[in-house]
Amino acid sequence: MSEHIEITRKGAVQIIRMNRPDKKNAITRAMYAVMAKALGNGDGDGDIRCHVILGVPGAFSSGNDIADFMAVATGGEGGMEVYDFLTALALAQKPIVSGVDGIAVGIGTTINLHCDLTLATPRTEFKTPFVDLGLVPEAGSSLIAPRVIGRQNAFALLGLGEGFSADRAREVGLIHAVVAEDELEAETLALAERVAAKPPEALKIARDLMLGDRQELVARIKQEGEHFRARLKSDEARNAFMAFMARKKG
Ligand code: COA
Repeated sequence: MSEHIEITRKGAVQIIRMNRPDKKNAITRAMYAVMAKALGNGDGDGDIRCHVILGVPGAFSSGNDIADFMAVATGGEGGMEVYDFLTALALAQKPIVSGVDGIAVGIGTTINLHCDLTLATPRTEFKTPFVDLGLVPEAGSSLIAPRVIGRQNAFALLGLGEGFSADRAREVGLIHAVVAEDELEAETLALAERVAAKPPEALKIARDLMLGDRQELVARIKQEGEHFRARLKSDEARNAFMAFMARKKG
Protein backbone atom coordinates (compact mmCIF):
# COMPACT_ATOMS: atom_id res chain seq x y z
CA MET A 1 0.00 0.00 0.00
CA SER A 2 1.00 3.61 -0.43
CA GLU A 3 -0.67 6.60 1.12
CA HIS A 4 0.59 8.57 -1.87
CA ILE A 5 -1.55 6.88 -4.51
CA GLU A 6 -5.30 7.23 -4.56
CA ILE A 7 -7.36 4.78 -6.58
CA THR A 8 -10.97 5.74 -7.27
CA ARG A 9 -13.62 4.95 -9.83
CA LYS A 10 -16.07 7.05 -11.74
CA GLY A 11 -18.44 4.81 -13.66
CA ALA A 12 -16.33 2.68 -15.99
CA VAL A 13 -13.19 4.80 -15.45
CA GLN A 14 -10.50 3.90 -12.94
CA ILE A 15 -8.60 6.95 -11.68
CA ILE A 16 -5.03 6.52 -10.45
CA ARG A 17 -3.84 9.68 -8.75
CA MET A 18 -0.28 10.35 -7.63
CA ASN A 19 -0.68 12.38 -4.46
CA ARG A 20 2.58 13.33 -2.81
CA PRO A 21 2.47 17.10 -3.23
CA ASP A 22 5.18 17.95 -0.69
CA LYS A 23 7.71 16.12 -2.93
CA LYS A 24 6.13 17.28 -6.19
CA ASN A 25 4.92 13.72 -6.72
CA ALA A 26 8.36 12.11 -6.75
CA ILE A 27 7.54 8.41 -7.19
CA THR A 28 8.70 5.87 -4.61
CA ARG A 29 8.92 2.10 -4.89
CA ALA A 30 5.70 1.76 -2.89
CA MET A 31 3.91 4.12 -5.28
CA TYR A 32 5.04 2.12 -8.33
CA ALA A 33 3.82 -1.07 -6.68
CA VAL A 34 0.35 0.34 -6.02
CA MET A 35 0.06 1.76 -9.54
CA ALA A 36 1.16 -1.53 -11.13
CA LYS A 37 -1.44 -3.41 -9.12
CA ALA A 38 -4.16 -0.90 -9.99
CA LEU A 39 -3.46 -1.23 -13.72
CA GLY A 40 -3.59 -5.04 -13.43
CA ASN A 41 -6.78 -4.96 -11.36
CA GLY A 42 -8.46 -2.52 -13.75
CA ASP A 43 -7.46 -4.62 -16.75
CA GLY A 44 -9.01 -7.67 -15.13
CA ASP A 45 -12.22 -5.93 -14.07
CA GLY A 46 -15.05 -6.16 -16.59
CA ASP A 47 -16.64 -2.99 -15.18
CA ILE A 48 -13.57 -0.84 -15.96
CA ARG A 49 -13.08 0.33 -19.55
CA CYS A 50 -10.44 3.04 -19.23
CA HIS A 51 -7.61 4.03 -16.88
CA VAL A 52 -6.88 7.65 -15.98
CA ILE A 53 -3.56 8.83 -14.53
CA LEU A 54 -3.47 12.18 -12.74
CA GLY A 55 -1.15 14.12 -10.46
CA VAL A 56 -1.86 17.09 -8.21
CA PRO A 57 -2.20 20.77 -9.17
CA GLY A 58 1.21 21.98 -10.35
CA ALA A 59 2.86 18.57 -10.27
CA PHE A 60 2.13 15.55 -12.40
CA SER A 61 5.44 14.08 -11.20
CA SER A 62 9.02 15.16 -10.52
CA GLY A 63 10.16 11.68 -11.54
CA ASN A 64 11.63 8.81 -9.64
CA ASP A 65 12.38 9.60 -6.00
CA ILE A 66 16.03 10.64 -6.00
CA ALA A 67 16.54 9.25 -2.50
CA ASP A 68 15.58 5.83 -3.93
CA PHE A 69 18.08 6.39 -6.77
CA MET A 70 20.72 7.31 -4.21
CA ALA A 71 20.05 4.10 -2.25
CA VAL A 72 20.91 2.04 -5.35
CA ALA A 73 23.84 4.32 -6.18
CA THR A 74 25.34 3.57 -2.80
CA GLY A 75 24.96 -0.20 -3.07
CA GLY A 76 21.38 -0.86 -1.96
CA GLU A 77 18.78 -2.93 -3.76
CA GLY A 78 16.52 -1.17 -6.26
CA GLY A 79 13.63 -3.62 -6.22
CA MET A 80 11.41 -4.62 -9.11
CA GLU A 81 8.52 -2.22 -8.48
CA VAL A 82 9.38 0.24 -11.22
CA TYR A 83 9.84 -2.61 -13.70
CA ASP A 84 6.46 -4.10 -12.71
CA PHE A 85 4.83 -0.71 -13.19
CA LEU A 86 6.43 -0.09 -16.56
CA THR A 87 5.50 -3.57 -17.78
CA ALA A 88 1.91 -3.08 -16.62
CA LEU A 89 1.83 0.25 -18.50
CA ALA A 90 3.31 -1.23 -21.66
CA LEU A 91 0.99 -4.24 -21.62
CA ALA A 92 -2.16 -2.47 -20.40
CA GLN A 93 -5.23 -4.04 -21.97
CA LYS A 94 -7.40 -0.96 -21.64
CA PRO A 95 -6.85 2.58 -22.91
CA ILE A 96 -5.01 5.01 -20.67
CA VAL A 97 -5.77 8.74 -20.53
CA SER A 98 -3.55 11.13 -18.58
CA GLY A 99 -3.99 14.68 -17.35
CA VAL A 100 -0.78 16.61 -16.73
CA ASP A 101 -0.37 19.92 -14.92
CA GLY A 102 2.96 21.60 -14.18
CA ILE A 103 5.99 19.47 -13.42
CA ALA A 104 6.49 16.38 -15.60
CA VAL A 105 10.10 15.27 -15.15
CA GLY A 106 11.72 11.95 -16.07
CA ILE A 107 9.15 9.20 -15.72
CA GLY A 108 6.65 12.03 -15.23
CA THR A 109 7.14 12.59 -18.95
CA THR A 110 7.73 9.04 -20.18
CA ILE A 111 4.54 7.65 -18.57
CA ASN A 112 2.67 9.72 -21.13
CA LEU A 113 4.35 7.98 -24.05
CA HIS A 114 2.28 4.96 -22.97
CA CYS A 115 -0.96 6.89 -22.81
CA ASP A 116 -3.48 6.84 -25.63
CA LEU A 117 -4.57 10.41 -24.94
CA THR A 118 -2.87 13.06 -22.79
CA LEU A 119 -4.16 16.49 -21.87
CA ALA A 120 -1.78 19.08 -20.42
CA THR A 121 -2.08 22.63 -19.12
CA PRO A 122 -0.25 25.67 -20.52
CA ARG A 123 2.14 25.80 -17.53
CA THR A 124 3.26 22.18 -18.03
CA GLU A 125 6.86 21.44 -18.98
CA PHE A 126 7.90 17.96 -20.09
CA LYS A 127 11.54 17.25 -19.34
CA THR A 128 13.73 14.15 -19.17
CA PRO A 129 17.19 15.05 -17.82
CA PHE A 130 18.35 11.41 -17.91
CA VAL A 131 21.69 12.07 -19.59
CA ASP A 132 22.39 15.13 -17.44
CA LEU A 133 21.95 12.87 -14.41
CA GLY A 134 24.40 10.35 -15.89
CA LEU A 135 21.49 8.02 -16.69
CA VAL A 136 19.83 6.64 -19.81
CA PRO A 137 16.24 6.85 -21.10
CA GLU A 138 13.76 4.44 -19.49
CA ALA A 139 10.18 3.22 -19.78
CA GLY A 140 10.85 2.07 -23.33
CA SER A 141 11.22 5.73 -24.33
CA SER A 142 14.34 5.02 -26.41
CA LEU A 143 12.10 2.87 -28.62
CA ILE A 144 8.76 4.66 -28.59
CA ALA A 145 9.71 8.35 -28.33
CA PRO A 146 11.26 8.39 -31.83
CA ARG A 147 8.08 6.71 -33.13
CA VAL A 148 5.70 9.04 -31.32
CA ILE A 149 7.48 12.40 -31.75
CA GLY A 150 10.12 11.69 -34.42
CA ARG A 151 13.84 11.10 -34.08
CA GLN A 152 14.99 14.72 -33.86
CA ASN A 153 12.44 15.65 -31.21
CA ALA A 154 13.20 12.46 -29.30
CA PHE A 155 16.89 13.32 -29.29
CA ALA A 156 16.18 16.88 -28.11
CA LEU A 157 13.98 15.50 -25.31
CA LEU A 158 15.94 12.40 -24.26
CA GLY A 159 19.48 13.28 -25.30
CA LEU A 160 19.71 17.04 -24.80
CA GLY A 161 17.21 17.11 -21.94
CA GLU A 162 15.39 20.05 -23.53
CA GLY A 163 12.19 21.06 -21.77
CA PHE A 164 9.09 20.85 -23.98
CA SER A 165 6.29 23.32 -23.34
CA ALA A 166 2.71 22.07 -23.59
CA ASP A 167 2.40 23.78 -26.98
CA ARG A 168 5.54 22.14 -28.30
CA ALA A 169 4.39 18.79 -26.88
CA ARG A 170 1.10 19.24 -28.73
CA GLU A 171 2.89 20.22 -31.93
CA VAL A 172 5.13 17.15 -31.94
CA GLY A 173 2.34 14.74 -30.96
CA LEU A 174 3.44 13.95 -27.42
CA ILE A 175 0.02 15.06 -26.17
CA HIS A 176 -3.51 15.30 -27.56
CA ALA A 177 -4.50 18.81 -26.43
CA VAL A 178 -3.76 21.74 -24.13
CA VAL A 179 -6.50 22.71 -21.66
CA ALA A 180 -6.78 25.35 -18.93
CA GLU A 181 -5.60 24.43 -15.43
CA ASP A 182 -9.04 24.69 -13.87
CA GLU A 183 -10.52 22.46 -16.57
CA LEU A 184 -7.86 19.75 -16.65
CA GLU A 185 -9.49 17.20 -14.39
CA ALA A 186 -12.99 17.58 -15.79
CA GLU A 187 -11.70 17.48 -19.38
CA THR A 188 -9.52 14.44 -18.67
CA LEU A 189 -12.43 12.57 -17.12
CA ALA A 190 -14.77 13.61 -19.94
CA LEU A 191 -12.25 12.28 -22.47
CA ALA A 192 -11.91 9.02 -20.54
CA GLU A 193 -15.69 8.69 -20.40
CA ARG A 194 -15.84 9.12 -24.19
CA VAL A 195 -13.28 6.32 -24.50
CA ALA A 196 -15.22 4.17 -22.03
CA ALA A 197 -18.44 4.63 -24.01
CA LYS A 198 -17.00 3.05 -27.18
CA PRO A 199 -17.76 -0.59 -28.04
CA PRO A 200 -15.00 -2.18 -25.93
CA GLU A 201 -14.20 -5.17 -28.14
CA ALA A 202 -13.79 -3.10 -31.30
CA LEU A 203 -11.78 -0.49 -29.41
CA LYS A 204 -9.48 -3.15 -27.97
CA ILE A 205 -8.74 -4.60 -31.41
CA ALA A 206 -8.14 -1.11 -32.83
CA ARG A 207 -5.82 -0.22 -29.95
CA ASP A 208 -3.90 -3.51 -30.15
CA LEU A 209 -3.38 -2.94 -33.89
CA MET A 210 -2.13 0.60 -33.29
CA LEU A 211 0.29 -0.54 -30.58
CA GLY A 212 1.68 -3.50 -32.54
CA ASP A 213 4.03 -6.02 -30.95
CA ARG A 214 4.40 -4.99 -27.34
CA GLN A 215 6.90 -7.72 -26.48
CA GLU A 216 9.52 -5.64 -28.29
CA LEU A 217 8.65 -2.77 -25.97
CA VAL A 218 8.87 -4.95 -22.86
CA ALA A 219 12.26 -6.24 -24.03
CA ARG A 220 13.46 -2.64 -24.50
CA ILE A 221 12.23 -1.67 -21.02
CA LYS A 222 14.30 -4.52 -19.62
CA GLN A 223 17.37 -3.61 -21.70
CA GLU A 224 17.14 0.05 -20.66
CA GLY A 225 16.68 -1.06 -17.03
CA GLU A 226 19.93 -3.02 -17.10
CA HIS A 227 21.84 0.05 -18.34
CA PHE A 228 19.94 2.29 -15.93
CA ARG A 229 20.83 0.22 -12.86
CA ALA A 230 24.48 0.12 -13.89
CA ARG A 231 24.47 3.88 -14.53
CA LEU A 232 22.97 4.57 -11.09
CA LYS A 233 26.23 3.35 -9.60
CA SER A 234 28.39 5.51 -11.90
CA ASP A 235 30.29 8.54 -10.64
CA GLU A 236 28.38 10.72 -13.11
CA ALA A 237 25.05 9.74 -11.55
CA ARG A 238 26.21 9.72 -7.92
CA ASN A 239 27.60 13.23 -8.27
CA ALA A 240 24.37 14.48 -9.86
CA PHE A 241 22.21 13.00 -7.05
CA MET A 242 24.50 14.40 -4.36
CA ALA A 243 24.31 17.83 -6.00
CA PHE A 244 20.48 17.65 -5.98
CA MET A 245 20.29 16.50 -2.38
CA ALA A 246 22.78 19.11 -1.19
CA ARG A 247 21.42 22.04 -3.19
CA LYS A 248 19.28 23.53 -0.44
CA LYS A 249 22.07 23.44 2.09
CA GLY A 250 24.37 25.48 -0.15
N1 COA B 1 12.99 12.94 -5.69
C1 COA B 1 12.94 13.23 -4.38
N2 COA B 1 12.53 14.42 -3.91
C2 COA B 1 12.15 15.34 -4.82
C3 COA B 1 12.19 15.12 -6.19
C4 COA B 1 12.64 13.83 -6.62
N3 COA B 1 12.66 13.50 -7.91
N4 COA B 1 11.77 16.22 -6.82
C5 COA B 1 11.48 17.11 -5.87
N5 COA B 1 11.72 16.59 -4.65
C6 COA B 1 11.51 17.22 -3.35
C7 COA B 1 12.55 18.28 -3.05
O1 COA B 1 13.72 17.69 -2.52
C8 COA B 1 11.82 19.12 -2.05
O2 COA B 1 11.82 18.46 -0.82
P1 COA B 1 12.08 19.30 0.54
O3 COA B 1 10.99 20.31 0.59
O4 COA B 1 11.97 18.25 1.61
O5 COA B 1 13.44 19.90 0.39
C9 COA B 1 10.38 19.09 -2.56
O6 COA B 1 10.27 17.92 -3.37
C10 COA B 1 9.99 20.27 -3.40
O7 COA B 1 10.94 20.39 -4.46
P2 COA B 1 11.62 21.78 -4.87
O8 COA B 1 12.89 21.47 -5.60
O9 COA B 1 11.70 22.67 -3.68
O10 COA B 1 10.51 22.35 -5.85
P3 COA B 1 10.73 23.29 -7.11
O11 COA B 1 9.36 23.65 -7.57
O12 COA B 1 11.71 24.38 -6.79
O13 COA B 1 11.43 22.37 -8.21
C11 COA B 1 11.70 20.41 -9.57
C12 COA B 1 10.74 21.26 -8.73
C13 COA B 1 10.93 19.16 -9.99
C14 COA B 1 12.14 21.20 -10.81
C15 COA B 1 12.96 20.05 -8.75
O14 COA B 1 12.53 19.55 -7.48
C16 COA B 1 13.80 18.97 -9.38
O15 COA B 1 14.59 19.25 -10.28
N6 COA B 1 13.64 17.71 -8.93
C17 COA B 1 14.41 16.60 -9.42
C18 COA B 1 13.81 16.09 -10.69
C19 COA B 1 14.61 14.93 -11.24
O16 COA B 1 15.74 15.07 -11.63
N7 COA B 1 13.97 13.73 -11.26
C20 COA B 1 14.58 12.52 -11.70
C21 COA B 1 14.41 12.39 -13.17
S1 COA B 1 15.16 10.92 -13.83
